Amino acid sequence: MSALALAPTLAVAQTSAAGNAPAAAAPSAAPAAPAAAANDAAAVPFTTGKAASGEAKAALCTACHGPNGNSVNPEWPRLAGQSAVYIAEQLKLFRSGVRNNPIMKPLAASLSDQDINDLAVYYEAQTPTGLEADPSYWKSGEALYLSGDAPHEVPACVACHGPVGRGNLAAGYPALRAQQSVYVVKQLNDYASGARYAGPSPPQADPNAIMMLTLAKRLTPEEIRDVASYVQGMR
Ligand code: HEC
Ligand code: HEC
Repeated sequence: MSALALAPTLAVAQTSAAGNAPAAAAPSAAPAAPAAAANDAAAVPFTTGKAASGEAKAALCTACHGPNGNSVNPEWPRLAGQSAVYIAEQLKLFRSGVRNNPIMKPLAASLSDQDINDLAVYYEAQTPTGLEADPSYWKSGEALYLSGDAPHEVPACVACHGPVGRGNLAAGYPALRAQQSVYVVKQLNDYASGARYAGPSPPQADPNAIMMLTLAKRLTPEEIRDVASYVQGMR
């Protein structure tokens, strides 16, 4: 994957990140409507998903993802405030085995499309509780997040994951704020090694992933550590 191939995608993403700014400032339940209006594919979880049903179904998930999706285990991702479009997409990828994870695969296999949409809108409506960043690392992590690493052709994370790490809910770009740093380090390494998605052509299986598959390879272990600490502390 060349830098040239990534560049047009980035230009589009910057535009949509800017377009998402008003939604990011709104209360967590509000972005659902503009997201659904902006994109038919993105509308799916919102047109059929019911947060109240999702809350009941989430009983199965709380053991690991925590009450209201605020996991306290550093290896288990937080789902509170996560994009519903992204959650629904990831659950389908676990179910089909494309996102390769022995814990989530059997759990996702028991979920119908309706279950997935209910869970997705429920978790997006929850509020992440704050976590602390490691003071030794977060400042350099912040610099990478806001400005990227031009000599290594790493774009700024803020373009897609947003100024306060809420992601781009409409586009299904995941929120990173208050995400467990141990989990974030694992995902960046899994993108870089190709382990996150199985199969001969993960980019076709999950077109959104192509950006991360490309840029994670360009990050140093120190950059991964630092930016993971920074996002863990984001509110
Ligand atoms: C036994 C613990 C466990 C249970 C129970 C569990 N999960 Fe997970 N979940 C995990 C782990 C571990 C990961 C991270 C996998 C990885 O490293 O790629 C994960 C990842 C996810 C992700 C991807 C998050 C992201 O940011 O990409 C979603 C979405 C998810 N789980 C939803 C659910 C839902 C919904 C349920 C209930 C139906 C559930 N999980 C139950 C352990 C669990
Ligand atoms: C061009 C847009 C774009 C840029 C720039 C970008 N990301 Fe991403 N990121 C995405 C998308 C889209 C996904 C979801 C990919 C998928 O489907 O697997 C993602 C996923 C992730 C995940 C996994 C989240 C989870 O819950 O599992 C992490 C961690 C992440 N990005 C960190 C970063 C960091 C750190 C940077 C800056 C060095 C960055 N990203 C720059 C678009 C971007």
